[in-house]
Amino acid sequence: MEYITLKNTDLRVSRFCMGGCPMGGYNWGKVQEDEFIGAIHKALDVGVNFFDTADTYGLGQSERTLAKGLGSRRNEVIIETKFGVRVGGGKTVYDNSPEYIEEALDSSLRRLNTDYIDIYLIHYRDGVTPIDDVVEKLTHLQEKGKIRYFGLSNIKKEDIDEFKPYKGLFVNCQDEFSLACRKNENDLRALQTELDLTPMTWGSLGQGILTGKYDRNSVFGNDDRRSLDIYVNFHGEKLLKNLEIVEVMKKIATKYEKPISAVAIRYILDFLPESVVLCGAKRPEQIIQNAEGTDWSLSCEDLNLLNEVSK
Ligand SMILES: NC(=O)c1ccc[n+]([C@@H]2O[C@H](COP(=O)([O-])OP(=O)(O)OC[C@H]3O[C@@H](n4cnc5c(N)ncnc54)[C@H](OP(=O)(O)O)[C@@H]3O)[C@@H](O)[C@H]2O)c1
Repeated sequence: MEYITLKNTDLRVSRFCMGGCPMGGYNWGKVQEDEFIGAIHKALDVGVNFFDTADTYGLGQSERTLAKGLGSRRNEVIIETKFGVRVGGGKTVYDNSPEYIEEALDSSLRRLNTDYIDIYLIHYRDGVTPIDDVVEKLTHLQEKGKIRYFGLSNIKKEDIDEFKPYKGLFVNCQDEFSLACRKNENDLRALQTELDLTPMTWGSLGQGILTGKYDRNSVFGNDDRRSLDIYVNFHGEKLLKNLEIVEVMKKIATKYEKPISAVAIRYILDFLPESVVLCGAKRPEQIIQNAEGTDWSLSCEDLNLLNEVSK
C-alpha cells in the first residue's frame, strides 16, 4: 500500500481510500451488509487505513455499517464523514448553518460509535452561510475534541477566493475525477496549489464502468441509480466513449498483469501527484482488485495513451 501525509495534518493515510457511498445500501442495486463488512476487513488486511462516508449515504446506514465493520479497530484508522446535505420532510436541502453542523456531527458520532471524527467535510456549500461562520464553528468543534481536521468537497476554482483566508486549515477537497470524467482536473489542481490541500477523487471507477465488466448491453434495475440518465457514464455517447477507453485500459492491464480497475486507480495516482483515490466497493474481492492499483507506476507512454483516449 502507498501512504501520504495529508496536507496540514499529521495524518498518514493510504492513497486508496475506501468509499462508503454504496455501503449506504441505497439505490446501488442488490447489496449485502455482510459483504460490506467483509470488504472493510479486507481493506484493513491490505493496508487501507482511510475510510470515507457521509451522513446522507443511506441516511446514516453507511456510517453504521462502517462502525460495525471496524469494530474495535476504529482507532487504527482515519474516518472522514460529511455534513451539509440535510434530508427530511420529503425535501433535500443544503445547510451549513452552525446550529445544524453540531446537530449533524453528534448524529454522525453516534452512528459511527466514536467520540471523534478525524476529518469532517463540508459536503456541499449552501450558498447562504458565510464561510467565516462555518470555519468558526468547525474550529470550535475541533477545540472540543469532536473533530480533528476539516476539509472540502465539490468546490470549483472560481470559489477559491472565498477559502483563501483559511489556507492551511482545510486539509483536503473531493471532486469527481476519473478516466471517464476529466472535467474537474483543473479545479483539483488549482485547489491543491492555491489552498495547499490534498486532492481526493470520487467516482474514480466511473461508478463501475472503468472496471471492464459492463458493455453496451448492460442493464441496471430500477433499484440502481446507474439506470438513470444523470449517471452519464452508462448512457448514450458517453457510454460508447467509455467503452473505447476501457479497450485501451484492457491492453495496459494485460501488459502489467493487473485488473482493469487497478489501471483506473493507477492512472489517477500517477496523473495527480499527492492525491488520494476514493473507490466504492461492495465485496472483498473488489477491494483486493482495487488495492492492486497501488505500489507500481504506469510508464510515460502508457500514461500518455490513457490521457489521449480520455481527453
Ligand atoms: N464528495 C462527494 O460529493 C462524493 C460523491 C460521490 C462519491 N463520493 C465518495 O467517493 C467514493 C467513490 O465513488 P463511488 O462509490 O460513487 O463510485 P466508484 O468508486 O467509481 O464506483 C464504485 C462501484 O464500482 C463497482 N466496483 C468497485 N470495484 C470494483 C471492481 N474491482 N470490479 C468491478 N466492479 C467494481 C461497484 O459497483 P458494482 O459492483 O455494482 O458495479 C462499486 O459500488 C464513494 O463511495 C464516496 O465515498 C463522494
